[in-house]
Amino acid sequence: MAARVLIAEHNLESRNRMREAVGEGGRVEIIGMARDGQEAIQMALKLQPDVAIISDDLPGIPGIKTCEMLNAIAPDVMPVLVSSRQDAAQTANAMQLGIRAVVSKTSSAEALISLIEDLAEIRNRRLSKEIQEWKDAARFPKIVSVTGAKGGVGKSTIAVNLAVTLAKRLPRKIALFDLYTQFGDVSTMLNVVPKHTITDLFSASPELDAEMVKDYITHHPSGVDVLVTAVEPSPLNAVGVEFLDSLLYTLKNNYRYIVIDMPHMLQELTFSTLISSDEILLIANLLDVTTIADTKKLYDTLLKEHFIKENIKIVLNRESRINRLNLRDVERVFSGCRLYHLANDNGMTTAVNQGTPIVLTAPDSSFAHDMLLLANAVMGLDNAADNKTISVIHKLFKKAA
Ligand SMILES: Nc1ncnc2c1ncn2[C@@H]1O[C@H](COP(=O)(O)OP(=O)(O)OP(=O)(O)O)[C@@H](O)[C@H]1O
Ligand SMILES: [Mg+2]
Repeated sequence: MAARVLIAEHNLESRNRMREAVGEGGRVEIIGMARDGQEAIQMALKLQPDVAIISDDLPGIPGIKTCEMLNAIAPDVMPVLVSSRQDAAQTANAMQLGIRAVVSKTSSAEALISLIEDLAEIRNRRLSKEIQEWKDAARFPKIVSVTGAKGGVGKSTIAVNLAVTLAKRLPRKIALFDLYTQFGDVSTMLNVVPKHTITDLFSASPELDAEMVKDYITHHPSGVDVLVTAVEPSPLNAVGVEFLDSLLYTLKNNYRYIVIDMPHMLQELTFSTLISSDEILLIANLLDVTTIADTKKLYDTLLKEHFIKENIKIVLNRESRINRLNLRDVERVFSGCRLYHLANDNGMTTAVNQGTPIVLTAPDSSFAHDMLLLANAVMGLDNAADNKTISVIHKLFKKAA
């Protein structure tokens, strides 16, 4: 396909001369002719040429400024400055402004056409599917730490069900990592018996050997790959901070989401993992006021430690029609935070006892529905504003239905 070009030149005769010279032979298609910088910018925005050939002596907005603006406003268009003077300082300045090339007014038509073809090729590669996919933030691998200020608030339940929900979309691309060194529940909740633990791996290879990691993974039929830190109670520092950092790096290269079930204790290992996390879910339930107060304290502490607010989600677990705490008061405590809700489900204990996550046994339950919203939010597919403002009335209405 011929490269599509816009020419900006004030002088009619020069403009026509350039059109004829460059258009000759059909390798380049002239799709627009502008007389000044303003017209060039407007036409570039409208026509999206591959290359814009801009003369340096345009009236109004000078050529170099026009190129700079094009670079900012229509970054996929490749600007080329045609200059009557050739000096190194001007070329260096042009490069800093993102101009692709500076050519002399006396350049041959063939030289200009080849330059246009090269730049059009670069632009096509930039717009290729492969490059566009790199721009899609939803595809970036993410470490999602599920933690909270208290024990027993539902961290493991949520980590397991979140991982399984994500695996419905991305089987074998989800790792679920139980970071509990003492009483990890992930393997029980998924009814898997890991052959090896991450503590074993650390003992075998304190300087992580990335090749060995796959032997420490247990595949669950849901499409989730499970790693557990320990099966026997071990000290909190049973694995080293640097080792864990390398392990997370390795996992990030192999999985789209690494969901971590993290103990609520803030110590070196958990804090360092939180720093490596792309998303932090702080779980609180609606059973007692100290959980809410402590979750808020943890949230504020993380902000003081410069964690990014947008990466922290507060998850209110075990919501029901009759909550022990007033939901509106709780929402007020967390106003301004990203807030998500998970229904209380009376079938949870049975699901845990059977070793099958409830999102698999009861995919139509309120909990599974809420979990899908949370999974979407983690994947960046939600409208955060909608989630933030879910009204109490709406929730009650939904649960009453
Ligand atoms: N949405 C829910 N509906 C009903 N029960 C729930 C819900 N979430 C969690 N539970 C129950 O709450 C209890 C604690 O859950 P879980 O073990 O996941 O908490 P935890 O925060 O991981 O605890 P720990 O700090 O001990 O690791 C379990 O009995 C679980 O079945
Ligand atoms: Mg737990």
